[in-house]
Amino acid sequence: MQTTYQMFIETKVPENELIVSRTDLSGKITYANETFAYISGYNTQELVGQPHNIVRHPDMPRSIFKEMWETLRREQIWRGYVKNLRKDGGYYWVYAEVSGVYKDGALVEYKSMRFPVDKPLKETMQQTYDTLKSKEEGLARAVVYLSNTNLEKLKKLAKDEGVLEDTLINRILSDTLF
Ligand SMILES: Cc1cc2nc3c(=O)[nH]c(=O)nc-3n(C[C@H](O)[C@H](O)[C@H](O)COP(=O)(O)O)c2cc1C
Repeated sequence: MQTTYQMFIETKVPENELIVSRTDLSGKITYANETFAYISGYNTQELVGQPHNIVRHPDMPRSIFKEMWETLRREQIWRGYVKNLRKDGGYYWVYAEVSGVYKDGALVEYKSMRFPVDKPLKETMQQTYDTLKSKEEGLARAVVYLSNTNLEKLKKLAKDEGVLEDTLINRILSDTLF
């Protein structure tokens, strides 16, 4: 994933609306409500038929989804905190409850309902997941502040080169660090 300004923009989940989706047994979306579409930045037609990892955020550790799927395969309810990726590269945090949908006693689909998360908890979960991600994949999240002067220089350079500022940031990061 590229570094962009947008990735630091959080969308707040409304208190009084439910984000609902259902998937088939492989995790492909079969239903998305309007709130899910709105909060993820897609429309419902774009979501239905896609694997649910369409909203997977790169900050999420793999082990969380492994545990989710193991819980679902045991036909139990999985509950946990999830940072999701919006279509525009931004993010939103939810507390999710994922469980089976049964027809005549047989598991036919999965469903998920999500709830808003308090700010302090989001911060705690971000740290928890950063630590997990670092242990599991050796990847660390880095947030960098630029001085206003350097930001102006960057904007000018981008304009001179006729590229987006985000493109330039990615070029600088890959040129100097790797
Ligand atoms: C009903 C249901 C809802 C899910 N909701 C999400 C979700 O909101 N965000 C997410 O990243 N993964 C969600 N998943 C898990 C994804 O299917 C997938 O396992 C995860 O995004 C990790 O992607 P990967 O398997 O490609 O690594 C959900 C799965 C099910 C069955």
